[in-house]
Amino acid sequence: MRMFKSAFCFASLVLSFSPLALSSLLAQSAPLAQTPPMGWNAWNHFKRTITDADVRAAADAMVASGMRDAGYTYVNIDDTWEGDRDAQGNIQSNSKFPDMKALADYVHSKGLKLGIYSSPGPTTCAKFEGSYNHEQQDADTYAKWGVDYLKYDLCGLRPIMKDQSHGDPQVASNIMKQAYEKMHQALLNTHRPIVYSLCQYGWDSPWTWAPLVGGNLWRTTGDIRDDYEHMSLIGFSQAGLAKFASPGHWNDPDMLEIGNGGMTPDEYQTHMSLWAILAAPLLAGNDLSKMDDVTKSILTNKDVIAVDQDRLGMQGDRVTAVGPCEVWMRPLDAGAKAVALFNRGPLDTPITVQLKDVGLDGPVHAVDLWSHKDLGLVQGSYTATVPRHGVVMLRLAR
Ligand code: GLA
Repeated sequence: MRMFKSAFCFASLVLSFSPLALSSLLAQSAPLAQTPPMGWNAWNHFKRTITDADVRAAADAMVASGMRDAGYTYVNIDDTWEGDRDAQGNIQSNSKFPDMKALADYVHSKGLKLGIYSSPGPTTCAKFEGSYNHEQQDADTYAKWGVDYLKYDLCGLRPIMKDQSHGDPQVASNIMKQAYEKMHQALLNTHRPIVYSLCQYGWDSPWTWAPLVGGNLWRTTGDIRDDYEHMSLIGFSQAGLAKFASPGHWNDPDMLEIGNGGMTPDEYQTHMSLWAILAAPLLAGNDLSKMDDVTKSILTNKDVIAVDQDRLGMQGDRVTAVGPCEVWMRPLDAGAKAVALFNRGPLDTPITVQLKDVGLDGPVHAVDLWSHKDLGLVQGSYTATVPRHGVVMLRLAR
């Protein structure tokens, strides 16, 4: 009953925010994630096997590969690090992570930041200990360890939402939002800047409320998989979400699969290009210590990263779709545009972009961001043959 009451209070609180209150609430998290977070997360490759040694190796490789210098910063531990609570209820890491503070110190010594994972429920998705009823205690522990990023994953709260909402989705949603807000307050109380990543698979349009509960980024979809069908379904379904992103607040179509082996180089270039057009977080999900040169060159393409990290922070969107051929555009700083010609079909195909369709007229200077060729001045339209499942990505500027 108490939960019910506070859930409704939360709903009316959200509805009654004045523009002033809203802007001061948003301002609290404004200094964090001014561009989409970049880094690495253990889950896509290591799943439950991740250990302290793997995380250190990832940090080492992030430096040695040039990824850190290209902008990758966060080294994020995902699920399965959690141990039991001690007699005072403090969360402890399990035997795979003998000393979390020492790990954070190590990651920081490389000029990188450490991320961690928990759930608003009693357990996580992998059935490890969650933060339910221990929110402040856990936030304090993360701050003490030196954590810089928290991914907060809904899973374990769902049975509670189901029990307490009696089938009313609005009540269930309010319970969820209240749980996210609770951890947001706990993180603020630590006075440590901790990027707050909401993971609830896009249920109930998080782009409309996640910033109100302190989210710097929020998952918009279910889990990605390392195959073209799945990655492209997730990526291309992001059309229409651009207006919800801004510095400090990002749509998150999930972590990268580049280098995990399930896609061709052209398909991984599509993955990287689409995520950059979408102003998506770039969290590599491969084993960085065993990266081949193709993977490294895709992940460290500075021109494509510059699109992702553009300081305007405007997410791009679909401009045209004709059969499997799609043109997407992202507005960039100083009037420039990133334009991606995607071929979702099974055969190499010429694709044309009309400059007027991407808001340009007159001659523009074009650079191909994957071949790094200067294409000189382009007028009216530009056509390129795009490989199957591949992309041609351009930067256009006056
Ligand atoms: C969920 C999340 C994944 C990962 C796993 C860990 O499925 O969406 O990204 O964190 O949980 O259990």
